[in-house]
Amino acid sequence: MSTLSFRNIWVEYGDQIVLERINLEIASGTFLSIVGPSGAGKSTFLRLILGQEKPSQGTVLLDGKPFPAEPGPDRGIVFQRYSVFPHLTVLGNVLLGYEFAERRLTARLLGEPRRKAVEQSLALIEAVGLGPHRDKYPSALSGGMQQRLAIAQALAKRPRVLLLDEPFGALDPGTRAQMHALIKPLWRDLKMTIVMVTHDIKEAFGLATRLIALDRVRRDPQAPERFGARITYDLDLTRDGAVPVLGFIRAEAEARS
Ligand SMILES: Nc1ncnc2c1ncn2[C@@H]1O[C@H](COP(=O)(O)OP(=O)(O)OP(=O)(O)O)[C@@H](O)[C@H]1O
Ligand SMILES: [Mg+2]
Repeated sequence: MSTLSFRNIWVEYGDQIVLERINLEIASGTFLSIVGPSGAGKSTFLRLILGQEKPSQGTVLLDGKPFPAEPGPDRGIVFQRYSVFPHLTVLGNVLLGYEFAERRLTARLLGEPRRKAVEQSLALIEAVGLGPHRDKYPSALSGGMQQRLAIAQALAKRPRVLLLDEPFGALDPGTRAQMHALIKPLWRDLKMTIVMVTHDIKEAFGLATRLIALDRVRRDPQAPERFGARITYDLDLTRDGAVPVLGFIRAEAEARS
């Protein structure tokens, strides 16, 4: 189980209100996609789940309990730009994920636990299609390969919740399609909750089971930072009725840009 609950969440930086009145329950096993204009607070929302950001009001709960103060291995994150360690090989990067999960980086794994971690890391590396590249350093990998490595590293921590912040945004369309084909079965097999920020509504519809849009509903031209973003759409993508709404959201986004 990994139900996430947001109860009347507000995030403010000084005078600027970024998010206001966010109420949301994300059921365990959901693939949730978040869309919204730049600056709407999407990454801020992910940082709340990661535990890197404290709300100025309200509570975020995991399975009904407040999060531990420190981001833990139960939550993993993959950013738009490659977040792997350049001085470690593919295998070294994924192993580090295991060491983090087991020992919280206090010590390196040794002996039998290490042998098991290597075995499981290699299986993950194989699963993301990097088997032949296990001994390469990130600088010798393409963008798509580095992103697959970042996903393998995040998965090594066996997170209950995987956070993806525009993870495929920097990739060419072909590589992006490969990543889509990779992530959906991983999500299904590992029974994780995924929260993915994307600018691509088509991507959201192709992968997610639920879509929310964050946007400001109130605007003050004199003081643009006075109101924060709220949830303006919340769609169950597993229902047929969601498809016509896609065109509507797209038209709205285009009208704004
Ligand atoms: N640590 C911080 N201190 C002050 N302001 C911040 C901080 N982090 C974010 N903000 C502000 O919060 C707002 C939302 O930022 P956020 O990065 O969450 O937006 P976003 O929806 O992810 O945008 P993008 O689509 O461009 O990535 C922005 O106006 C940003 O300047
Ligand atoms: Mg962002």
